[in-house]
This record gives sequence, structure tokens and C-alpha cells, in this order.
Amino acid sequence: MAIAAAVERFAVVSPALHREPSVLVFDSGLGGLSVFREVARARPDARFSYVADDAGFPYGALSDQELIRRVGEVVGTLVHRLHPDLVVIACNTASTLALPSLRAHHAIPFVGTVPAVKPACAASVSRKVSILATPGTVRRDYTAGLIREFASGCDVTLVPSVRLAGLVEAVLAGDAVSDGAILDEIGPCFVADAASRTDTVVLACTHYPLILDRLEALSPWPVAFVDPAPAIARRVTSLLGPDLEPSAPLATMTPVRLFSTRAALDAALISALIGRPVETPEVLDTAPAAL
Ligand code: DGL
Repeated sequence: MAIAAAVERFAVVSPALHREPSVLVFDSGLGGLSVFREVARARPDARFSYVADDAGFPYGALSDQELIRRVGEVVGTLVHRLHPDLVVIACNTASTLALPSLRAHHAIPFVGTVPAVKPACAASVSRKVSILATPGTVRRDYTAGLIREFASGCDVTLVPSVRLAGLVEAVLAGDAVSDGAILDEIGPCFVADAASRTDTVVLACTHYPLILDRLEALSPWPVAFVDPAPAIARRVTSLLGPDLEPSAPLATMTPVRLFSTRAALDAALISALIGRPVETPEVLDTAPAAL
């Protein structure tokens, strides 16, 4: 119930826009790009900014209090500076905890990214579903609530991964990451007994879809990996309202603004992933040093 109410609350604040909408996409690192690329594809009319709180990475390791403060400070800094029409929190670890406080502080819509338990359990034939996520997301009450509400009749295995988001960052940085290291993290998702085996794995950290090809290649047997990004893109579109000039997507030429809190983001990598030009990356000097 609480979850449904939260979803409805941000539907009410949908802006009626008559110009290029501006959207801020947030993550602890590069994982949010798996969501950003879908949203950018869905909204060629929008201008985008992307922020990675890399000084706080990995979020999976932070206490709840630290996480709420970091996200509040970094997002707050950019909301006041950029005045976006909408913010996408492209991070499960942050969304499952910090959305109520963000919504309380800013009168714009926030679209979160939360474990896709409902579609995964609806689609599973074997009724064995695994949720692969950071330790933070795994221990959240919010995640437990999703399982209570949407997983009845399913045997759900929660798989906390301490290292996988960092391994994805390493892959994207061009470092060699062994199959064994990835397999150690995803192995516990694959559960089998005499009757059935896991057929669906929820990718409940936005980093993971960025190495989907390796996850598929390393799976002991084929499963459906569920990535929430297309659903998030649809949600963003429904909140922004229709693209008023779909034939003239001038905003695709507007360079994406890139922000981080520790090291400058890799502009070429992000431009290639998103398919848009990017501005020279900026490192925010407002990193929450007190944390
Ligand atoms: N990409 C983030 C998520 O979706 C988490 C990565 C991290 O641990 O910072 O949960």
C-alpha cells in the first residue's frame, strides 16, 4: 500500500511543459548510464545533465544516514543550480532509501529506480526469482515491502553483491576483470532443486545491465535478466508529457552536462554510451566533505 501511494504522489506533480524539458540523472557512479541511455532514447527533445557521486562510491557500503545526507547534498546542489524539470535517481541503493527526503525538499518530480520485483515475479515460470543488488538495497525495508506485495507464490533469493558494481566500473574503465570474479558475485543467483531452477534474475543495481553480455555468457543456465530502465523511461515520458515537436529533436544536439564529486567523468565513454555530445566534465567542489 505504502509503495503504491508513493508512486501516485509523484504522478500528481507532472509539469505541463511547452519547451525542451531538462532532466537531471543521478547515480553514485557510471551505473546510472544504463537508465540514462533509455531515457535519452525515449526523449530526444530533452536536455540532460548526469551526476555521479563518485566520492561516495560504493553506496552499497554506506550507512543509511550517510547515504541520505550525501544524496540530499549532491542532488540539492544541482537542483538549485540547474533547475531541472525532473530528476531521475538512477540508483536502487539511493532510491530505496532517500526518495522520501528528496521529495520533501524539492517541489519537482523524482523518478526512482527500485528492484523490478513485480514484473520479474509475474514473468517467472519456475517461480524461482533472484534479486541481485548491493548489500544496501538487499537490507532495505523498501525491498522487503516489494517482495511482500508482489512476490507471493514465488521463491525469492536475495543476493547481496559487495563487489559487482565496482567490477562494472573497472570494466568501463578498460581494466581486465576476470570471468571468475564476476561469477563469484552472480553464482548465488542460480538456485536449483529437484523440481525447478531459477529462471529470472532482477538486476537491482543500475551498474549490472552495463555488462549484460558478460552476465549472460557466464550464467550456468539461461535466465531472463530484468532491467528496469525501459520502464523508467516510460515513467519519465508520462511525467514530462508528450514531446511537442517529435520531428525536430534539437535537444539531442545540446551537449549533456557531466558532473562528479571526485574525478572527472570519461566524456568519450559517456558520449558513446548515450549517443549524444557531452560538455567538458566538471568536478563539483561541493562534495559532502563533512561525511
Ligand atoms: N548503481 C547503484 C545502484 O543501482 C549502486 C552502486 C553502488 O554501490 O554505489 O544500486
